[in-house]
This record gives sequence, C-alpha cells and structure tokens, in this order.
Amino acid sequence: MSTSENFPISRRGLLAGGAVSVAATTAAGAPAAEAQPARTKERPPTARVSFEVNGAAHELELDTRTTLLDALREHLRLTGTKKGCDHGQCGACTVIADGRRINSCLSLAVQHDGDKITTIEGLGLPGNLHPMQQAFVVHDGYQCGYCTPGQICSAVAVLGEIEAGIPSHVTADLSEAPKVTASELRERMSGNICRCGAYSNIIDAIADVAEVKA
Ligand code: FES
Ligand code: FES
Repeated sequence: MSTSENFPISRRGLLAGGAVSVAATTAAGAPAAEAQPARTKERPPTARVSFEVNGAAHELELDTRTTLLDALREHLRLTGTKKGCDHGQCGACTVIADGRRINSCLSLAVQHDGDKITTIEGLGLPGNLHPMQQAFVVHDGYQCGYCTPGQICSAVAVLGEIEAGIPSHVTADLSEAPKVTASELRERMSGNICRCGAYSNIIDAIADVAEVKA
C-alpha cells in the first residue's frame, strides 16, 4: 500500500487546513494581550540652583540629574570646560568650586547651590591672561588644546594646595610642608590626562608660575 493510501490527505490540503485552523483560533479569541495602561509622560524632577560662576550670579531651573559640567556648557554656554570621558577619568572637565578643583562631570549641579565656581573663562581671557595661561603659552603646554582648560584650572588649584600645605602621596614626610618639585607636580596633576603627551611642558609651565626649576 502506498503512503497516500495510508494518509489520504495531500500536503496542499494539510497546509490549507492549518491556515484555516489558525484563523479560526484567532477569531475565536485566543487570549488577547492585556490592555496596557496608557503611559503618562512624566516630567523629570527639577530644582532651582543658584551659584556664582566667574563672579556672575546665576539661577537655573535644572533637571536634578544635570551635572555641573552640563549646566556650565549647555545652560550657561561656558564651553571652555571640556567633556572628555564624562566618567571622572580624564580631568578635561576640571573647574574650581569654592577653591577646590573638581571633575565637574562627576558632580551634580544641585550639589553646588550657593557655591562659587571658577572656569577657564574666569581665570583670564585673551588680552588679559592668568599667569598660568600665559605660562602654558610660553612653554607650549599643549598641542590640540582639548585637555588644556582642565590642566590650567587644575594647575592653579595645585599651587594653592601646596601653598596651603595639603600633603600628597609623594610628600615623603607628611609632617613637612610639601614643596613645588617636579615629582610633586606630576603626582598632583596625574588626574589630568593629555593624549597629546604635553606633560613635560605642562610641568615646566607650572614650575615657571611657582618660580621654581622643575
Ligand atoms: Fe570629567 Fe573626563 S570629562 S573627568
Ligand atoms: Fe591635546 Fe592635551 S593638548 S590632549
């Protein structure tokens, strides 16, 4: 006996039957997907932040997740401060907040309510450069310049830290006041990465401002 005699349904008939059966099942109401509640478009929470940037008072209504870096660049259009990694790894976003250098990409703007922020624009501008900016020019402390605003803000704060006697990891005897030496400067500037590798000229520039030989 042939196979078609054992199973008197043709392949074409089987496929057609299947299609009809699927259609019937759907029409008969296979369990419908549960109705999803309509999504409401919630606005993210905002907060009012007041701070002083480069001597000018600012009040901003910000999404509470806004970093200080984005508040400076996107809301105040102070684009001198650069976004490199946005993860606290490169130092390109360094600014000075109440006298301390910080990575502005790691800090929420709302944490700086009432603070005094200094960015590269607040240190000096063309025609009236800060001594550190001038020294970077004289010593060729940059190539592409992308890291430079962060390097300069950091360098200014580093000399302040040494002057204030704040020890670093390389200060051999922590009871001794730190001195401006090349190794001290390198250690303190180690959070500012320069992909162009202008490191030795950067150290020369900082040492020049500190009036020591690196
Ligand atoms: Fe902030 Fe790199 S952008 S540390
Ligand atoms: Fe290019 Fe530093 S000057 S990254």
